[in-house]
Amino acid sequence: MTSKILLQNKQSWNRVAHHFNGVDALPHYGPFAQKEDELNLFEDVKGKKVLDIGCGSGHSLRYMSNKEAAELWGVDLSETQLDAARQTLKNMKTHLYCGAMEEDVGLPVSYFDVVYSIYAIGWTTNLSETFKLISSYLKPGGYFIFSWDHPLYVHLKSNQGQIYLEGSYQDEGSVTYQRFKGEDAPMTIPKRKLSTYINELIKAGFTIDTVVESDVPSDLESMEEEISDKYYSLYKARKFPSTMIIKAKK
Ligand SMILES: C[S@@+](CC[C@H](N)C(=O)[O-])C[C@H]1O[C@@H](n2cnc3c(N)ncnc32)[C@H](O)[C@@H]1O
Repeated sequence: MTSKILLQNKQSWNRVAHHFNGVDALPHYGPFAQKEDELNLFEDVKGKKVLDIGCGSGHSLRYMSNKEAAELWGVDLSETQLDAARQTLKNMKTHLYCGAMEEDVGLPVSYFDVVYSIYAIGWTTNLSETFKLISSYLKPGGYFIFSWDHPLYVHLKSNQGQIYLEGSYQDEGSVTYQRFKGEDAPMTIPKRKLSTYINELIKAGFTIDTVVESDVPSDLESMEEEISDKYYSLYKARKFPSTMIIKAKK
């Protein structure tokens, strides 16, 4: 791993991993977004070989095991996250790799029926290489599903319920935060437009099947909420999608 950003993010993820045990995992696609039970994007995974990109604490892989997937594979940048995943998945046969999604870590090629990534893909420092690698892991006809913050969401700020745009959606690049989850854990997060995700999928040879701009899940529809300026809130999610979810076929 040669990239300074990857090395820095890896160290920081090791430090903040404990905040993410079981957070952002299937059947959830993201904060205040519909769940898989409502969207049914995965079809039937029984007997399928699945690969989780940025598998974190392993809770999405456990969901796949409960749905009787045949093989459980995962890759993550952080050893600490993978230690948590081994705990979550103890007694289950797994294949867990520590490495960056944008690098070839030796995963088998043309092998998987399903590759997915829940709230991790946006961390990649090289989206085109990541999508090319993911395409290579899939069998022809296999599919890839990922969720991430809706790319405009990071620009939506709220002041006493008045929502406004901060910064420029037009400018891609990356943002470095010196602290993450209240810890001394510098993280650099790339910033991309929705069209960049879609165009890079197409360039990697995928056919887009479904694009979801999330809405509040049905179980929260009738819930009363107060005005909130929090980064994620029901108040904001009723007005703008918190999460994008894309399903693409090889
Ligand atoms: C919010 S967590 C994902 C949660 C996880 N998908 C789940 O289902 O429980 C984001 C994960 O992405 C991982 N990550 C960040 N950058 C990465 C990279 N370049 N390659 C692989 N994993 C990365 C982090 O270590 C972290 O575990």
